[in-house]
Amino acid sequence: MSNSSLVKFTQALNEEWGVVSSALTLKSKLLLEDLTQTCLNDDWYKDLVKSKSPAKEIYRSEKHGFILMGHVEQNGELSPPHDHGNGWVLYSTVIGQVDMGIYQKIIKTDGSLHLVQKDAYPLKAGQCSVYLQGDIHDTHTVEDNTVMLRLTSCDFNKEVEEGRLVRFIKNVEKW
Ligand SMILES: [Fe+2]
Repeated sequence: MSNSSLVKFTQALNEEWGVVSSALTLKSKLLLEDLTQTCLNDDWYKDLVKSKSPAKEIYRSEKHGFILMGHVEQNGELSPPHDHGNGWVLYSTVIGQVDMGIYQKIIKTDGSLHLVQKDAYPLKAGQCSVYLQGDIHDTHTVEDNTVMLRLTSCDFNKEVEEGRLVRFIKNVEKW
């Protein structure tokens, strides 16, 4: 059994964890980037790939509440634009590619709310992006068997259940 890269990641993150700050988001990003680049021989990673699971909880910090999720996705899979409620999140790609779209809420002159896209970029193997409270993005997986790791600051199922995490469907202006 070898889970050395995961143990290193979780120990370091539990030690560093606290209220969201620039120092914490940077540290978390560096740690997650390191994990995505060193996890290939870990058993939990091999199990995730083998399972082809669309969403698997890899680790949950009982002390701090952050969660590491693993996702195996296929070409063409989409997650519509959404925020992350009161949480914040890091996305990273281990293998494959996920294209990210970035949006902002705009009130038009007639008073209607629109989501206007302001950026798009690929998240390639080894790369990691941070999305803070209020950030809105979508995801589009563009390679089969893409493996993504997602570190959430809290339980996002609860953010959905309690109505804080919003998915946007109407008036979305995509590039
Ligand atoms: Fe997200």
